[in-house]
Amino acid sequence: MTDNANPNNTVASIRIDPDLVDRWLRDLASHGAYGETGVWRTVYSPEWIAAANRVMGWAQQAGLAVRQDAVGNIWGRLEGSEGGKAIVTGSHLDSQRPGGWFDGGLGVVGGLAAIRALHEQFGAPRRPVEFLVFCEEEGSRFPTAGFWGSRAITGDIPSDGADTTISYDGEIMSDVMRSIGLAPDAIDSARRDDIEAFVELHIEQGPILEQARLAVAAVDGITGMRHYAVELTGVANHAGAFPMDLRRDPMAGAAEIISGVINTAHRMGRPAVTTVGRISADPNGAAIVPERVSFVVDARHPDPEARQLLYRRHEALMREVAERRGLEISWTLTQDPAPVRCDPEIVAMIEDVAKARGLETLTMASGAGHDTQRMAKVARVAMIFIRSRDGRSHTPDEFSSLDDCVAGIGVLAGTLHRLAW
Ligand code: HGY
Ligand code: MN
Ligand code: MN
Repeated sequence: MTDNANPNNTVASIRIDPDLVDRWLRDLASHGAYGETGVWRTVYSPEWIAAANRVMGWAQQAGLAVRQDAVGNIWGRLEGSEGGKAIVTGSHLDSQRPGGWFDGGLGVVGGLAAIRALHEQFGAPRRPVEFLVFCEEEGSRFPTAGFWGSRAITGDIPSDGADTTISYDGEIMSDVMRSIGLAPDAIDSARRDDIEAFVELHIEQGPILEQARLAVAAVDGITGMRHYAVELTGVANHAGAFPMDLRRDPMAGAAEIISGVINTAHRMGRPAVTTVGRISADPNGAAIVPERVSFVVDARHPDPEARQLLYRRHEALMREVAERRGLEISWTLTQDPAPVRCDPEIVAMIEDVAKARGLETLTMASGAGHDTQRMAKVARVAMIFIRSRDGRSHTPDEFSSLDDCVAGIGVLAGTLHRLAW
């Protein structure tokens, strides 16, 4: 029985099964297991297919009507007695190379566990409810594919997108999709304009909750981020015979730029962040001044104006260093999602549900990018974070306790209950 007279009692009564959550998290992590605690599960790989099949099986068992769209996003739907636009939750199935169990995995397992618990305890919802597993978020196999799943849903993949998206190993996205039975020519059919709200449960991936000794946060905004894929070209020469003052050495330019952009963000202070985590030299020989150095500058700020200032500073530095050192420089923007504000009403609902379930929370912005950011184009959005041990993520050392996972799933379930049941 539900106590409709007191909605706080109702959301407090929702029970999440910790054993089920633990079993699903471990099972999901076994598809693409990397060492004891890591996962390496890039989009459309054999381990991704196995994980997708497993999750679809769980969703069917939970009574959802399950399908995959043209890009392989998984949708599981419960019809609502009153109809209308859908209330949706979920997260992404792909990982970093390597990543941990929880980035994406928590929101997949938690989204389904929450819907399953609500369906079992309260029956059919009032509003249609959908479980959504994004095929790809990380850009870890195809560097320009980041947010592939959510971009298909919001109509942000151009018509030639699958033919022009190339993996780190030189594979063409459309070939890879066809080879596993997906439909690169029908990406447009994945669009949705009938979603009312999207709420994503995710690990924080930083140290704020741990420092505050809290398990759960409501997320009120998501950072803007940009990836500059930079190519610096000079002249390859002998490392011994060619004098320093005559060289056009792209490694010297890269070193100066990398140090400079990182220091720019450091000097601007929180929440500006700039990272260079990927670099390659060509031809990559110990006794050769390289011909070319390529690297990716990942730069983020949640404030629209401060973000543009950070980017102007980075671009001015890159041009100045290249010119002074006689190097050619070019860059492409492989990711550029703008910052978003979450829906204030849903953020307040998350805070309220957490309180009703006896949890103290804080409210914070996300420094990581999320599909939620893309979904904001077509729906009201919000996120729920849970504590990350030592703030670690994008590494097999990523960890969140089962208690914290279950606490977050409980808050998600309460929020879905308020929105849809
Ligand atoms: O890098 C990010 O913020 C996201 O996890 N892909
Ligand atoms: Mn993620
Ligand atoms: Mn990630």
